[in-house]
Amino acid sequence: MRACLRDRRLGRNFRHVGSEHEFAAAEPLDPRRQAFWDTERWSLLWLEPPEHTRIRKLVAAAFTPRSVVSLRQPCHELARELLPEGEFDLLRDYAQPYSIAVICRLLGVPTDRARDLLDWSHAMVKMYELDTSEVQAVAATKAAHEFRDYVVALAGERRSEPRDDLVTRLVEARIDGERLTDAQLVSTIIVLLNAGHEATVNTLGNGMLALLSHPDQWRRLVDGEIDPAAAVEELIRWDPPLQLFERWVLSDGVEVAGRPVPRGAKVALLFGAANRDPRVFDGPEAFDVGRANADAHIGFGGGIHVCIGAPLARIELAAALQTLLERAPGLQLQDEPRRNDAFVIWGLESLRVTR
Ligand code: HEM
Repeated sequence: MRACLRDRRLGRNFRHVGSEHEFAAAEPLDPRRQAFWDTERWSLLWLEPPEHTRIRKLVAAAFTPRSVVSLRQPCHELARELLPEGEFDLLRDYAQPYSIAVICRLLGVPTDRARDLLDWSHAMVKMYELDTSEVQAVAATKAAHEFRDYVVALAGERRSEPRDDLVTRLVEARIDGERLTDAQLVSTIIVLLNAGHEATVNTLGNGMLALLSHPDQWRRLVDGEIDPAAAVEELIRWDPPLQLFERWVLSDGVEVAGRPVPRGAKVALLFGAANRDPRVFDGPEAFDVGRANADAHIGFGGGIHVCIGAPLARIELAAALQTLLERAPGLQLQDEPRRNDAFVIWGLESLRVTR
């Protein structure tokens, strides 16, 4: 899996090297969904070099170790402030407001539209699933439209009244002497906002379900035997929030696991399976928060698209977990949790718990 992620002959996109005709598995982009495709056009996730290299460099400048570490304290404060009392849905009432607040703080986006940001993101990521319905595609397109208008207005505000935040830095940034276009700004800000909470929220949901269903492991954390930051790696390994990423075969002569794969084919990378690889993990089916090499998981990807937000995600998840351990050591599942109906973005519909 790592070899595939690093192999430059496998790409997230093929449109820079060939036509839809040559890449037969590609479905033509539906023009009725243009507003959605426009927001994806410059997303780091879909770009390949040299465009990817340029925009990634710009974004990476904002994710310096210093700026990410400076979010540690705010993460702890937000985690404590937002933890509800009594009975609550760990996803909707805690993980979502927390994670959106953290990414908004990093970007300098106000949180008064947090509910809209979550709704837009939830609608848009349905387009990454393998079985997107017509109704979902229509909703994703509407969300993309509204999200775009919101980001264009926000960028306009920062242009006329600059602040010390990431949105302002992106608005003012220059690549080879040229500013980002509105389309590039929109894609970049949207991918950061969406990627910045979807996976983190589902890691908390999937991870807390694993912990509360394995009370012995929860106890090891409550007793201080295991550092929450180390346990986060096992949460991601055990039940990763992102299950599938695809790559196009861009060149001839590619082999995957010893099998030839022709140019134009699509390869599915199954992260959940790789994280249970017995060649990497001893007893991979066991959930063990003290697992020594849990951080060998593939959860953050690899190669040029490796998750740019991983250092933030780690700090954010450790702060939330530590808060739950300190403030809600007796946390219990209230009823049987329900999975949502998605696969690629793998998570729960709700996780009702009692403090
Ligand atoms: C537990 C939480 C997270 C997980 C498991 C995760 C996982 C991933 C993975 C697997 C990729 C690579 C996709 C590919 O190879 O095709 C990725 C890319 C990315 N992630 Fe994350 N992510 C998480 C949190 C975050 C956060 C908090 C942010 C933002 C601050 C973020 C922003 C991004 C961006 C912008 C990319 C695209 C990078 C590129 O294509 O160059 N992620 N993430």
